[in-house]
Amino acid sequence: MNEDQRKFGQQIKTEDPADKKSEKDYSKYFQSVYIPPSLKDAKKRGKEEIKYHKDFTIDEQFRGLGNGKKFYIRTYGCQMNEHDTEVMAGIFSALGYEATDTTEDADVILLNTCAIRENAENKVFGELGHLKHLKRDNPELLIGVCGCMSQEESVVNKILKSYQNVDMIFGTHNIHRLPNILADAYMSKAMVVEVWSKEGDVIENLPRVRRGNIKGWVNIMYGCDKFCTYCIVPYTRGKERSRRPEEIIQEVRQLAAHGYQEVTLLGQNVNAYGKDFEDLEYGLGDLMDELRKIDIPRVRFTTSHPRDFDDHLIEVLAQKGNLVEHIHLPVQSGSTEVLKIMARKYTREQFLELVRKIKVAMPDVALSTDIIVGYPNETDEQFEETLSMYREVGFEHAYTFIYSPREGTPAAKMTDNVPMEVKKERLQRLNDVVNEFSAEALKKYEGKVVEVLVDGESKKNENVLAGYTRRNKLVNFEGPKEVIGNIVKVKITDAKSWSLFGEFIEVGQIGSEFEEAVEVK
Ligand code: 5AD
Ligand code: SF4
Repeated sequence: MNEDQRKFGQQIKTEDPADKKSEKDYSKYFQSVYIPPSLKDAKKRGKEEIKYHKDFTIDEQFRGLGNGKKFYIRTYGCQMNEHDTEVMAGIFSALGYEATDTTEDADVILLNTCAIRENAENKVFGELGHLKHLKRDNPELLIGVCGCMSQEESVVNKILKSYQNVDMIFGTHNIHRLPNILADAYMSKAMVVEVWSKEGDVIENLPRVRRGNIKGWVNIMYGCDKFCTYCIVPYTRGKERSRRPEEIIQEVRQLAAHGYQEVTLLGQNVNAYGKDFEDLEYGLGDLMDELRKIDIPRVRFTTSHPRDFDDHLIEVLAQKGNLVEHIHLPVQSGSTEVLKIMARKYTREQFLELVRKIKVAMPDVALSTDIIVGYPNETDEQFEETLSMYREVGFEHAYTFIYSPREGTPAAKMTDNVPMEVKKERLQRLNDVVNEFSAEALKKYEGKVVEVLVDGESKKNENVLAGYTRRNKLVNFEGPKEVIGNIVKVKITDAKSWSLFGEFIEVGQIGSEFEEAVEVK
């Protein structure tokens, strides 16, 4: 048993070695592991120092493992999962596998899952059901479950019991172990389960196959220590660990050199960036200040926690340049009482004060947010406060959710007197306000010329191109396909409810969309 296994779990034999056919198989048998998750361990935040590994390599014994084989990864949930999928695709390629975009063609299928709400989990179980027939047609097929759901005991138990077609389950801290896990799964008749629950390290130099060459994700930190009472993420993603600034800066420079037009810095709580450095006073503001000087047209970041959003960051963002005028700032509720029960650690007034400071420094900022309705025992008055907060801030977009209990979190233990029907009504009422504000924000664009980073053809019509403005507004327009991947000027002719429509003018940058100051209360 190696040091890591001792730290994270017990290695258990999953089958009788006598079953193995050859000497070679027999030696590999001992790699077969059953390390299940533990939410209890995942909750711990030890004092152990974070280890940085810079030397990731594919072990010689695994080279060629995937020769002649194809892999397929389906990604659910947030951008962090998209990022992890790119890393896993990189590992697959390094092992000799080829990518495919159909499950029927694949020799290995991975579901990179999301645990944030119950319906996200149900989609995955539905998909595992659909995949059963593929396994019948091709018994050699390997099916794996990874991502946040695999960090939950209840999910692993359910898969062990009811989804025998799954060959491997591995956790968010075990991605770099994919070669070993695949080798184990090929050799083992039993399901290979390897989920480290506690903490985790930072591993650099992982191979990576990025999706597209226009926009790139750059992870700046892993994990979350906030423990909002409803949220499963601190359990599934471990403690906060920041990547070193020099690694991030180098990655962004490389993307710029390869012609990428935009990077999005990723983390569950990017505003806590650097808090875990013991040898360095360095935060997100410092990092953005460095990235500002790199010759890449746009830099975004997500997702923010209002609590750690400091003045230095605001000051740096206000200098604009390649730092765009859009901030996603999840508020979750407009009621101080509910925020307290959620353990968000700010009040309604503190949030409004933060918004005021941001708007003073960046009058043309577009703010978007996340909101949960129907928190256990949320009263009508408390919900009304969320509506009034939305109006007061003037958010331009929001992701809205009905609270979903997550096993193992404190909120899941609370009794709840709000009927589902009331929660649904509240969601509808909130969405009406969200739509109203979104339409109003888009209306202001009519007649304006804005810069659009062209992503590709529109999903609905291949003769129309689509892309986003700096303030993250979706723009559709007719234009030459050669401009895909460029920043272009577009004159907005029509504001629809969720997007803008415009006329292509020429390739070129403009900068901010609205220079005039908005009214700051
Ligand atoms: N129920 C509903 N929504 C949730 N979110 C996180 N956990 C839950 C939950 N248990 C929402 C929050 C968060 C977003 C990513 O998902 O609004 O900001
Ligand atoms: Fe979840 Fe709160 Fe951490 Fe966001 S800050 S990932 S909502 S615990």
